Amino acid sequence: MWKDFVMKWKPKVDEKLVEFFKGKEDLASRFKDINERALSFAEDFTVSGGKRVRPILFLAGYISQGKEPDDSILKVAAAIELIHSFLLIHDDIMDKDEVRRGKPTVWKRFENAGFDRHTAYSMAITTGDLVYTYALQLVLESGLPWEMREVVLRNMLRTVEDTGYGQNLDVYFPTKPVEEVSPEDVMLVYKQKTGYYTIVFPLTTGAEIAGADKGTLEALSDYGLKVGIAFQVHDDILGVFGDPEKTGKPVGNDIREGKRTILVLEAYRRGSPEDKEIIRRYLGTDDEEGIKKVMEVIERTGALDYAKELERNLVEEGKKALEKAKISEEIRTFLKEFADYLITREK
Ligand code: IPE
Ligand code: IPE
Ligand code: MG
Ligand code: MG
Repeated sequence: MWKDFVMKWKPKVDEKLVEFFKGKEDLASRFKDINERALSFAEDFTVSGGKRVRPILFLAGYISQGKEPDDSILKVAAAIELIHSFLLIHDDIMDKDEVRRGKPTVWKRFENAGFDRHTAYSMAITTGDLVYTYALQLVLESGLPWEMREVVLRNMLRTVEDTGYGQNLDVYFPTKPVEEVSPEDVMLVYKQKTGYYTIVFPLTTGAEIAGADKGTLEALSDYGLKVGIAFQVHDDILGVFGDPEKTGKPVGNDIREGKRTILVLEAYRRGSPEDKEIIRRYLGTDDEEGIKKVMEVIERTGALDYAKELERNLVEEGKKALEKAKISEEIRTFLKEFADYLITREK
């Protein structure tokens, strides 16, 4: 069962995260309580919540080559979660999101502490940068043999670069009319902003430092891209139709922010002239009645069903790609089950 694998490794990664943050307390406390507070926001945001998809996949990649993770590998797994945390801290500023994992986002915590919005954003940007630095430090200090450390850092930096291009595209497309954004554009955004850093990077890096051959890395990367795009399609579905009690995120924010998701594009393509008008008028607004109308159009036109079929097909293609990978049978089964979980999850 994929759950046993997660239950075995998640607490070990969490332990490394807590240990790392504890080790930073002394230094941060030398720079007045604002930095102590920044550190504690970053720690609480990182540690209390999150599925740990990326460190789990990194460990799966490593174990797939018959290796047993040691202390240094667990530190790198934790560092990979810190990259995710840093990206989320910035993402919540970009998306103006106030709640994640059922709690205030980092910028919102600063605002709740009494700072004006610009100051809160500024402090959260810096806090995100700090967490990025922590990730790099944790890899450097992991004790992993230098050749492996170099591989991890090279892949990590390239992935942050890729994600940066993706995040820029994600905020750029809403500035264009809906009809000028293509499904290929949306797939490119999903690949760049999510697919690489969520699945491809952790999985292939774990396998690479454990000695996987080129063909295997290509197969895992193929799996990762397909499942990574499906992961974002599912995130978008949950963002519109999920239960906020479970997802820990409010519903409808992508529509309020005018995000060009596959749901919106497909609904626009399929919709009647009246449906198209609803999308053009309310996408990117705070009009609550209008937001509900857009959701209704997404469902009625069959765009929701289309997205569900798309994620399912992508996952099937991803599983197929695994056939060419030289990995243990235990991990092959895990990766197949995990892909199914990623597109059926409720949070
Ligand atoms: C959210 O990632 C950001 C995306 C790339 C869609 P997760 O869904 O993995 O978030 P947590 O870590 O479990 O909260
Ligand atoms: C998150 O994408 C991607 C990164 C953090 C790089 P989203 O903005 O779609 O994810 P959520 O819905 O806020 O988690
Ligand atoms: Mg977001
Ligand atoms: Mg975003």
